[in-house]
Amino acid sequence: MSVKLAPSILSADFARLADGVAQAEEAGADWIHVDVMDGHFVPNITIGPPVVAALRRVTKLPLDVHLMIERPDQYVASFAEAGAHCITVHQEASVHLHRTVQQIHALKCRAGVAINPATPVHLLDDILPFVDLVLIMSVNPGFGGQQFIEASPAKIRSLKDRLVAQGLGRVEIEVDGGVAPDTAVKVVTAGASILVAGAAVFNKEASVARNIGDLRKAVASAPSRSVMV
Ligand code: DX5
Ligand code: ZN
Repeated sequence: MSVKLAPSILSADFARLADGVAQAEEAGADWIHVDVMDGHFVPNITIGPPVVAALRRVTKLPLDVHLMIERPDQYVASFAEAGAHCITVHQEASVHLHRTVQQIHALKCRAGVAINPATPVHLLDDILPFVDLVLIMSVNPGFGGQQFIEASPAKIRSLKDRLVAQGLGRVEIEVDGGVAPDTAVKVVTAGASILVAGAAVFNKEASVARNIGDLRKAVASAPSRSVMV
């Protein structure tokens, strides 16, 4: 399983989203990560299905939609219709998580489940056989540019162990929050295979191409558990 980079448009210039996405695509990004926030589940409001539909028209890359919203079951169809490739819902926001995952699959999208930093990995045990990916939040969701929580690699390692023990090595581990070259090495070594990065990709210090190149180099230097399993 090779490591995928999924730049988060949350840190891009919202007035020039198409440019930001084009730069990321040209620089070799694998997926585009789209952060949807409702002002209830998280203390911030971002975008909805029309923006996903607009992005669908300007990039060939799969759109990785991360729903940080309450009652995600009410909205997954709109995001699927807008062109999402993968839809991830939060365990904490889904009362009937299994049903929501089934709903996502019925819409022909890949299904992911996300957990916040304070949610233990073992709460996912019963849903693991039904998902395509698990997203480990390595910051508290709501904002870009926050500091990586150092307990995250241990959590990723424990999830990877549980997946391997259940014969579910195909389920990918995605990490979201504070991912930069140094933390990327830690999470890939622990077993992550999809890295979301916002502020480390879209910033004023360097070009998107340079930033993605730096992340790739860091990932290439990490002993990846994903490729070993
Ligand atoms: C946080 C979002 C992240 C965010 C990551 O709530 O889910 O996707 O954009 O941003 P960075 O990489 O800047 O921490
Ligand atoms: Zn996200």
